[in-house]
Amino acid sequence: MKKIKDLGDLNQKIVLLRVDLNVPLQNNKILDATRIKKVIPTISHLLSENAKIIIITHVGRPKGKKIIELSLQPICDYLKSELNLKIKLITENLNNLNKKNIFSNNDEKVLLLENIRFYPEEEKDDIEFAKKLASLGDIYVNEAFSCSHRAHASVSKITKFIPSYGGLHLSNEIDALYQITHNIKKPVSCIIGGSKISTKIKVITNLATKYDNIIVVGAMANNFIKYNNHNIGKSVFEKNSELIVKEIYDSAKLNDCKIIYPKDFLVGKNLNDFSNNRKINEIENDDIILDIGLETIKYIKNIINNSKTILWNGPAGYFENENFATGSYEIAKEISVKTKNSKLFSVIGGGDTVSVLNKLNLIHNFSFVSTAGGAFLEYLEGKELPGIKSLN
Ligand code: 3PG
Repeated sequence: MKKIKDLGDLNQKIVLLRVDLNVPLQNNKILDATRIKKVIPTISHLLSENAKIIIITHVGRPKGKKIIELSLQPICDYLKSELNLKIKLITENLNNLNKKNIFSNNDEKVLLLENIRFYPEEEKDDIEFAKKLASLGDIYVNEAFSCSHRAHASVSKITKFIPSYGGLHLSNEIDALYQITHNIKKPVSCIIGGSKISTKIKVITNLATKYDNIIVVGAMANNFIKYNNHNIGKSVFEKNSELIVKEIYDSAKLNDCKIIYPKDFLVGKNLNDFSNNRKINEIENDDIILDIGLETIKYIKNIINNSKTILWNGPAGYFENENFATGSYEIAKEISVKTKNSKLFSVIGGGDTVSVLNKLNLIHNFSFVSTAGGAFLEYLEGKELPGIKSLN
């Protein structure tokens, strides 16, 4: 993959920069600006190399229609103040735009195209639309790893018509994911949580072919506990998950991978409750498992300490209630300390897990933290991502 960091002075070249500024918006307010902040270094880098930039992104799922609530105006305002630059939001239909006069004067350096998913052609990966988009610039840069699982015109087809490069962050993300899937320093362990096992089965079965340990935590673990004939009281579980769990055990056995599930817990009678300790055979019929217990934490810490590579996706418990946050906090701290001491390569992914790190102010203590959702999981499943494939 060609990377923008290998490009030198861009000498007024127009860069089409595809980013993922799909941030939560409410009444024109940005609720979480993490994704916008992340692309600032790339924009600054391109500006320092004398480029002119046309930013392309989507927000939400307008399905090819103009939806005023999904306009990029609040994002444009945010970018203006972060970069201290004039940035125009281009609301005109892009089919009427022309490379020669899209920048109205020499001082204009950054433009933002209105929500690219307002065009039905975008999600259809439409060839003419991609060609038109490409005609507006000299170079295309994909800085949107989290959209790269979508075969959309501004992610995939556009690369057929213009020299295309991977952005700074996208290259780092792929390097990190490569290190936990192909170029792995062993022993390697994965801690995987979340509520729905069916959404992560392909990830687990794929990782089971390469990993030494897969530790299942969070509500997902309840399916394993139940499968192993223990009472889970009123805890969340997925109906008909027995076949999925069996498939995971079969794949793990075949590949000499150890599947580990919690053996003690913190339970409550409801989500707002205080916590009580329970061993695996002590769960009462009205208990809800909401966190892992101290013995399990100790066991997991031991595995972290014996690993050289760790992937963590999904909290260990219902950390939104501090009484059930200990498991997630202890895992985060242990991985963080070992990573800082250069004894571990650690990759963390998933919105909730990132929230745990933010709560502890530890976000910078890991080898790589991914904010991508679907793209992160599809990469771990071993799927080829259209946006990445087209850059190669
Ligand atoms: C994301 O938030 O994961 C990306 O922006 C992709 O959004 P999508 O799931 O609507 O394609």
